[in-house]
Amino acid sequence: MTADPAPVDAAAITAFLRRRRLIAPDAQVQVEALPGGVSNDVLALSAPGLDAVVKRALGQLRVEQLWLADPGRIDTEGRALQIAGRLAPGAVPDVYDLHEGYLVIERAPRSWHTWKDELLVGEVRVEIAEHLGRLLGTWQCATAHDAWTRLQFGDRTAFTQLRVDPFHRTIARRHPELRDQIEETVEVMDRADVCLVHGDYTPKNVMVAPAGEDPDGLWVIDWEVAHVGDPTFDPAWTVGHLLLKTMHRPGAAPEYAAAARRFLAAYEAAVDGAVVLDPAQLVRQTACLLIARVDGTSPAGYLDDRAAARTRELGRRLLVDAPDTVTDAWEDLP
Ligand SMILES: Nc1ncnc2c1ncn2[C@@H]1O[C@H](COP(=O)(O)OP(=O)(O)O)[C@@H](O)[C@H]1O
Ligand SMILES: [Mg+2]
Repeated sequence: MTADPAPVDAAAITAFLRRRRLIAPDAQVQVEALPGGVSNDVLALSAPGLDAVVKRALGQLRVEQLWLADPGRIDTEGRALQIAGRLAPGAVPDVYDLHEGYLVIERAPRSWHTWKDELLVGEVRVEIAEHLGRLLGTWQCATAHDAWTRLQFGDRTAFTQLRVDPFHRTIARRHPELRDQIEETVEVMDRADVCLVHGDYTPKNVMVAPAGEDPDGLWVIDWEVAHVGDPTFDPAWTVGHLLLKTMHRPGAAPEYAAAARRFLAAYEAAVDGAVVLDPAQLVRQTACLLIARVDGTSPAGYLDDRAAARTRELGRRLLVDAPDTVTDAWEDLP
């Protein structure tokens, strides 16, 4: 079965913007599809007085295998952006509207790009890693053990459909020899309801200003699977993605390692003891991510066969012979 194409419907979006009085009744809207997403339609909109991005969640993802997810997650994303922006002003786009399944948000300056774009070419600005660590610590500290956050973000349906099933459960089936460790990871994650978790805290969901432009220019986007859960999940994904880039570009390994260390140090300073990460779970989550990016439902497109084999081996080693801290992974790369 192929994914539903969900065509860009400029007329429907224009009618929506008029109904919501986000544009004048006679205004024309320019609509441009943005690249990247497989789980949403993401479009840039420009009209007099409006420069925005609109996001609409797909029920069926644009990947080869059948993969379904509850489109109601767009509401979670809108609410999470609002909370995240309140707790760390300027760190996420403003929310202009959230209605009828459309999330309308502030558009980044045209010069911005994703952090992934830089990392893939071996350009590693450790200050970005530090900024992200500080933000994550701030968000976790402010939402840790908080009853209101649990009420708002207690539902894990989308997280399960978009992360746990396609990543952890899929690799547990494909790697029976690692099933115990993967299941332990999932059990610990299921039991944890510590703080707000972004759920995709990765370089492709970080938009940054070009070097030398605006040192504070950084947004964390794409909060569709936000929930209250395991505090190791987000740091594991950032560190795991730096390991994936290391597998892709071994020559820049020291820079990626430095970025991971700076990220974790900044996180710890900002979280200020409100959350204490379980180092073993952090290693396991990182390992699961690595294996999932080669053997899960949506493999990373930039790894060639050799890099994929080394990634799988690194993930396996981290699960069966876990180091004390996750950044030790860089000490003994396959
Ligand atoms: N507010 C924004 N301003 C500019 N570009 C954006 C914005 N939000 C998303 N994009 C672009 O659209 C892509 C997909 O958006 P994202 O929210 O990550 O959706 P998905 O869940 O489909 O990955 C991003 O990688 C980025 O390039
Ligand atoms: Mg994204």
